[in-house]
Amino acid sequence: MAEKHFKYVIVGGGVSAGYAAREFAKQGVKPGELAIISKEAVAPYERPALSKAYLFPEGAARLPGFHVCVGSGGERLLPEWYKEKGIELILSTEVVKADLHSKTLRSAVGTTFTYDILIIATGSTVIRLSDFGVQGADAKNIFYLREIEDADKLVEAIKAKKNGKAVIVGGGYIGLELGAVMKINNLDVTMVYPEPWCMPRLFTAGIAAFYEGYYAKKGIKIVKGTVAVGFDSDADGEVKTVKLKDGRVLDADIVVVGVGGRPLTTLFKGQVAEEKGGIKTDGFFKTSVPNVYAVGDVATFPLKLYHEMRRVEHVDHARKSAEQAAKAIKASEEGKSIDEYDYLPYFYSRAFDLSWQFYGDNVGDTVMFGDSDPESPKPKFGSYWIKDGKVVGAFLEGGTPEENKAIAKVAGLHPPVGDVNQLANEGLSFAAKV
Ligand code: FDA
Ligand code: NAD
Repeated sequence: MAEKHFKYVIVGGGVSAGYAAREFAKQGVKPGELAIISKEAVAPYERPALSKAYLFPEGAARLPGFHVCVGSGGERLLPEWYKEKGIELILSTEVVKADLHSKTLRSAVGTTFTYDILIIATGSTVIRLSDFGVQGADAKNIFYLREIEDADKLVEAIKAKKNGKAVIVGGGYIGLELGAVMKINNLDVTMVYPEPWCMPRLFTAGIAAFYEGYYAKKGIKIVKGTVAVGFDSDADGEVKTVKLKDGRVLDADIVVVGVGGRPLTTLFKGQVAEEKGGIKTDGFFKTSVPNVYAVGDVATFPLKLYHEMRRVEHVDHARKSAEQAAKAIKASEEGKSIDEYDYLPYFYSRAFDLSWQFYGDNVGDTVMFGDSDPESPKPKFGSYWIKDGKVVGAFLEGGTPEENKAIAKVAGLHPPVGDVNQLANEGLSFAAKV
């Protein structure tokens, strides 16, 4: 069987892989030194597009439009770019075995790859309802969304089920973004989630009330406090109804499930130290195994600002951790050192004409400010999180680029808060003057 050797191998061809490749090129790699091995058939792209513009009924985003690094305002790396740089893109190739001791990877078709330095960038996979035995969960037209192939299947179903009924299972990122885009496609949308409000891992009840109100105004039905326990399908095997734990039954032509992600660490189990469900790294994304790095969704890294090990499943960290690892690798080869990763968490989402950003840590007490009335013509509101008398996190819906910059600054600087009522009154102007 074929065997190929590279100085650097990135396993996984998503967001991190693309940003790492750009950084390697910046730092200088020789042709033939770097390879990206990806299960996907396309060069690295900005994954966030899949749950947003990719699904628009008109003017939808399509490749090559959103290859990395356009999502952060950078150069678009087309397949030709990798060729020019002598970076080998090994696509449609799943790594099924990794032996970190012998520095060997094996693909599904039996090709062996050896490396000097490995970067693990396998990202996350979806949690499936069949993972916890939900009856009928393998019916046709029940979709998950992680990769472009999944998005293409969903696009086909949206076309086939014009003006039909969509049920969205899950009230997190996928749930909220898909609920909106299915409505934009003119489907009749119902969302189902177990918690008392949407996106509870970030939103406060106050923030969630705005989005739930806004979605209701758009005609989306929301069923809270229950879960899907089964699906019925027709003679063609296509889903027809969703059975809920509380006894209700919802009609459905399309079901989209977003009940969380799971980092793809299985290949490396037992070979590398893990923590908090991810591969444990230092502030240079080095793992416990020499010459093996882990970046993006799979890495559990020291979040210096909070003196804590964390895993972050968002695109900004995927980009920055990849760049940090590539810089650290090149620096160590030259006997130089670089600063440890010092990350300010940044998450965002867009749906309908809404757009929010969050920076920092969502711990402690919260203070909400601004106009969070879903009926307002131009709602703009936010929230601060306050711990030990200091602002540690900030959220803003509808902010301008300058306002978003101001909340990022506030979340990073941890200014003290005297009077919370005053903070609520000052709202954005508090951030602006820090
Ligand atoms: P990523 O998932 O990007 O890439 C992993 C790659 O590894 C994939 O190409 C996969 O096929 C490949 N792979 C896995 N196992 C393999 C194997 N054994 N062999 C070969 N290849 C393998 N975040 C945010 O901040 N804002 C947003 O709006 C969004 N929106 C969004 C939408 C959707 C639909 C998803 C699924 C996710 C988001 N995210 C997001 C999250 C963000 O996209 C995510 O955190 C990054 O893509 C993580 O980058 P990674 O490179 O770690 O994994
Ligand atoms: P999530 O963790 O954001 O949300 C999961 C949600 O699933 C929970 O909030 C809960 O409402 C729901 N849930 C759990 N069990 C359920 C059940 N049995 N029935 C119904 N609902 C149930 O995960 P996600 O939305 O699936 O997103 C997957 C991954 O993609 C995450 O890593 C996320 O960060 C990423 N993503 C991020 C963005 C963004 O940052 N804007 C957008 C899309 C996806």
